[in-house]
Amino acid sequence: MRMSTIAAAMLATVVTAATATGASAQMMQKTLYERLGGTTAITAVVDDFVGNVAADKRINGFFAHTDIARLKFNLVQQICQGTGGPCFYTGRDMKTAHAGMGVRSKHFNALVQDLGKTLKKFKVPAKEQGELVAILAPMKKDIVTR
Ligand code: HEM
Repeated sequence: MRMSTIAAAMLATVVTAATATGASAQMMQKTLYERLGGTTAITAVVDDFVGNVAADKRINGFFAHTDIARLKFNLVQQICQGTGGPCFYTGRDMKTAHAGMGVRSKHFNALVQDLGKTLKKFKVPAKEQGELVAILAPMKKDIVTR
């Protein structure tokens, strides 16, 4: 009787330890935000990306009257939040922000290409590039209106 109580206690310890190991392994899984390098890296990426957009004749006309500092701030917050970071996006929703602009698929693809250039320049691994694009791609339906 005494032995079985000890055995049960030992088993409980093993089970608890295994559960704890499992839980910590899960907690050690870094968010995309962390793997990208946090707010500092995301800010650098957004700066370079918006620079590419500003130089891109295919789409820079859309941004002629845009407050670029505000756009960059909103993009950083949006990407930070979307990748699991400690930010809260306070900008407009994508449908409202892009309403009436007449953005076409070709414009959207050009912008994604400009982002790709930046991610390549910053040596963001393919896995993280894919994860970021997968977060942004579903927004296309709210941004492309014709
Ligand atoms: C996944 C792709 C895109 C994302 C994540 C995105 C994100 C954003 C965000 C966060 C803002 C700021 C919203 C605010 O000010 O409240 C914004 C504004 C803007 N976006 Fe996009 N955008 C995307 C695609 C595009 C494309 C393809 C174009 C045109 C080629 C475009 C043109 C603009 C312009 C011109 C503004 C400024 C609007 C203004 O100043 O009122 N965006 N976008």
